[in-house]
Amino acid sequence: MKNSILYISGLSMMMAIVITACKMTYDAPDVQYTANYESADVSEGKRLTTLVCGVCHYDPTTEKLTGVHMVDIPDILGTVISSNITNHPEKGIGTYTDKELATVIRTGIARDGRLIPFMQRPNMSDDDLLNIIAYLRSDDPMVNGSESDPGKTKYSRIGKMAIGSSKPTDWNQGIERPDRSDKLAFGKYLIDNLACYDCHSKSFAKVDKINIEKSKGFMGGGNKMLNKNGDKVITPNLTPHETGIAGWTEEDFAKAVTQGISKNNRILAYPMPSYADLTEKEISAIFAYLQSIPPIKNAIKGR
Ligand code: HEC
Ligand code: HEC
Repeated sequence: MKNSILYISGLSMMMAIVITACKMTYDAPDVQYTANYESADVSEGKRLTTLVCGVCHYDPTTEKLTGVHMVDIPDILGTVISSNITNHPEKGIGTYTDKELATVIRTGIARDGRLIPFMQRPNMSDDDLLNIIAYLRSDDPMVNGSESDPGKTKYSRIGKMAIGSSKPTDWNQGIERPDRSDKLAFGKYLIDNLACYDCHSKSFAKVDKINIEKSKGFMGGGNKMLNKNGDKVITPNLTPHETGIAGWTEEDFAKAVTQGISKNNRILAYPMPSYADLTEKEISAIFAYLQSIPPIKNAIKGR
C-alpha cells in the first residue's frame, strides 16, 4: 500500500516535471504600454533594429526583415526560422499592437503566447525600446510590408525541452540607458542588448538574461555553434586573459567587430555578426568594459 502511494506520487511528480519541462506557451503579463511616437527617434530606431534584430531577422535576398532559417542553431534542436517582422498584416507584424511588440521583446512571450527565448531583452531601456517600435512601424524599405514567407519553426523533441526549460523574463518598465559617458556601465548595457554574452559565454543553456555577469563562463567563449557550411565553430574568449583578448588594442577590437577581421587577419565568419553600425564611442565602451571583467583561462583552438 505504502509502496503504491509512493509509486503513484513518484509517477505524478515525474509527469509534473515532464509537463513543466515542456511548457511552451505563457499568458502575456498584464501591463500598460503605449508607444509615445512623438518622442521617438526613428533613425536611431533603424540603427538599433539593424544591430539588435537584424542579426536574426534580416534576409539579404529580400533586403528586408522577412526572416530566415537560423542555420547556426544545431539541427538537433529542430528547424528554427525567424519571423517576417515587416509591416505586412498577415505575413508580418502589421497587426501587432505596441504593447504586444514591447512584451515579446522584453519577456519573450509572443502574441499567441509562445515563448521565444532567443530574443528576450529584459534590460533594454524604455528609449531604445520605443525607438525600435517606432521604426518597425515606419515605411522604411527594410520593414514595409512584404508577403515573403520564411516558413515555420519546428522544434525537435530536444528543442522542445530546451524551450520548455527556458522562462519568460520579467516585464520591467522605467529602465534608463546608462549615460554614454559612463563607459563601463554603457559597455555592459551594449553587451547585454547586442547579446554578445549570449554567444560568447559557455553555453546558451547557462546564460543569465537578467544579470548577464552571472552567466556561466561569462564572455570566456566556448559556446558551440554552426557556420554556414554546417561546421562547428566555437566562440572565442573575449575576457582580458592571454587566451582571450589581453594584448589586443582598441583598434584590433574595432576592426574585428565592425569589419569582421580578427587580430591575426583571420576573416570572422557567420554566425559572428558584422556590426558596421556601431559608433566609435560604443566600441570603445564595449572594449573598456571587457577589460574590466574577470579574466577566464580558456584557449579556443584555431583562433
Ligand atoms: C537571436 C535571434 C533573434 C533576435 C536577436 C531577434 N529575434 Fe525576433 N524572433 C526570432 C525567432 C527565431 C523567432 C520565431 C520563433 C518561432 O517561430 O517560434 C522570432 C519571432 C519574433 C516575433 C514574433 C512574430 C510572430 O510570429 O508572432 C517578433 C514580433 C519578433 N521576433 C521581433 C523581434 C524584434 C523587434 C527584435 C529586435 C528587438 C528581434 N525580434 C530580435 C529570433 C530573433
Ligand atoms: C550569434 C553569435 C554571436 C554574437 C551575437 C556575437 N558573436 Fe562575436 N563571434 C562569434 C563567433 C562564432 C566568432 C568566431 C568566428 C570565426 O571564428 O569565424 C566570433 C568572434 C568574435 C571576435 C574575434 C575574436 C578572436 O579571437 O578572433 C570578437 C572580437 C567578437 N566576436 C566580438 C563580439 C562582440 C563585441 C559582440 C557583440 C557586439 C559579438 N561578438 C557578438 C559569435 C557571436
